[in-house]
Amino acid sequence: MKIVRTERDLRNTVWGWRGSGDRITFVPTMGALHEGHLTLVRLAKKYGERIVVSIFVNPTQFAPGEDLDAYPRTETEDARLLEAEGVDLIYVPDPQTMYDVHHATTVKVGGVAQGLETDYRPTFFDGVALVVTKLFNRVQPDTAIFGEKDYQQLATIRRLVEDLDMSINIIGAPIARDGHGLALSSRNAYFDADGLTLARKLNIIMKKCASDMREGQHVDVATDEAKRALLEAGFSSVDYVEVRSPNSLTVLEGGYLNGPARVLVAAHCPNQGNSVRLIDNFAV
Ligand code: PAJ
Repeated sequence: MKIVRTERDLRNTVWGWRGSGDRITFVPTMGALHEGHLTLVRLAKKYGERIVVSIFVNPTQFAPGEDLDAYPRTETEDARLLEAEGVDLIYVPDPQTMYDVHHATTVKVGGVAQGLETDYRPTFFDGVALVVTKLFNRVQPDTAIFGEKDYQQLATIRRLVEDLDMSINIIGAPIARDGHGLALSSRNAYFDADGLTLARKLNIIMKKCASDMREGQHVDVATDEAKRALLEAGFSSVDYVEVRSPNSLTVLEGGYLNGPARVLVAAHCPNQGNSVRLIDNFAV
């Protein structure tokens, strides 16, 4: 497995592979890898002969005051895990070469990227769309894999690729969860025992919300009940519990389920005098 840090080495290697007819599948990450990321890598194998994984903690998607500096960085362990999965190349770009001092271009996605996360992290998807565009241009993959864990991010990338005519096949991977149903996340590393116990209640509350809606409860009643249950369980605040259509993420008409939908949640879980923001989503 190659570990490559410069754009030149990346392009040379990938061009060589493409020249010999190999298809390139790309898994972008911010490192601190866990089993959830590894399920993406395993899925990647189905789409191409060569797997490229990037590890880059992207500063433009962190707002001032978010956890950019504290974000876990575990490159040696990440490389060990990826090598064991048979990854061909890890791309670890240097932040200075990603955004040089003259950088002046933004990438802003409307529609699906507006609302939900954007109400609480207004510039988040601008940062994601920018870095993913740059990574796509550098790697030039045939296929790229993103997790449904970050459901609005996946929808945003699909929109970006479609709108900017990037000929990349975008694949969504199912959410990987621990034995208690908690969606795996690099930020779970922050939890102490009490934080983890509470965090694991989120999926139980949301599954009840989903099943109540399936049984005919009004969407507003079910989502209000879920918010109340989260606060009663000990979550310090709930940013949103919302039901949206699965592809366009538009608000449901009529207030009752009339086909497949997605319930999306973001809530703050107290932990060691601080809080960890959890996001998750469920098919309904
Ligand atoms: P990161 O949080 O490292 O996640 C990398 C990829 O792993 C994303 O596509 C994410 O949805 C997926 N993933 C994380 N946890 C998962 C889980 N439990 N189950 C399934 N997939 C999971 O998302 C980012 O990085 C960044 O925004 C990035 C796209 C790399 C741009 O900087």
